[in-house]
Amino acid sequence: MNNPLPEHIAKGSRLVVAVDGPAGAGKGAICRAVAEKFGFSYLDTGSIYRGVALLALQKGVTDDEELGKLAGEMPFEFRRVANEGFRAFLAGKDVSNSLREERVGRKASQVAAVPQVRAALLTFQRRYGGEKNIILDGRDTGTVVWSDADLKVFLTASLEERAKRRALELQGKGETVSFHKIRDMMAERDARDESRTHAPLASATDAHYVDTTLLTLDESIDSVVKLVDKLVGNKPR
Ligand code: C5P
Repeated sequence: MNNPLPEHIAKGSRLVVAVDGPAGAGKGAICRAVAEKFGFSYLDTGSIYRGVALLALQKGVTDDEELGKLAGEMPFEFRRVANEGFRAFLAGKDVSNSLREERVGRKASQVAAVPQVRAALLTFQRRYGGEKNIILDGRDTGTVVWSDADLKVFLTASLEERAKRRALELQGKGETVSFHKIRDMMAERDARDESRTHAPLASATDAHYVDTTLLTLDESIDSVVKLVDKLVGNKPR
């Protein structure tokens, strides 16, 4: 796919690892571990879409043009907080917990289908990390954001397994959840992400396909670490 960039920002000599896949495939946990191991920056692109969704919910914005404007002007940043790692801030307020709410995820997949929103967020994603090697995850990081990434991974797992993991995660936080409801909402979000016209969820043709259905988290991390190891060994940093 050609890269429809509003502004060209070169990758330079840094290494870029793009990890895409459906909700609950373990992208975040795996990418964080890989970033830590190799000293890469990490960008969770989903949280930026969630930031737009949260703002849209708070302000009651539904119009596509307005949503694009909201995304373009969004005062969003990641900051390192002592003992908590990177946290997401909107207008100076730590919104990391609100961003993880299911209603925000669902709204995110709606605003993510709006081309004006996607265009507005592209530059932020390409600039992120400056010259540092980076691993980023999302739905279109290997097909659109960094279609020239050095390594692309498509990470997936069965719907049942992904829903099970998400239910356990929410239970761990003390939230009462129905497995069936989570599974249905996930299926709905997957379908919307896969079927939208602009930058749908899809594996890049040159991506490594990793199915984590039968893998533990450590085994999943290991399979991506092996790929990055090869890349780092092959290329000067
Ligand atoms: O990954 P996460 O579940 O946080 O993403 C929330 C939503 O944001 C996804 O369902 C998807 O619609 C959207 N998204 C996207 N492109 C990305 C990352 C996320 O469209 N690169």
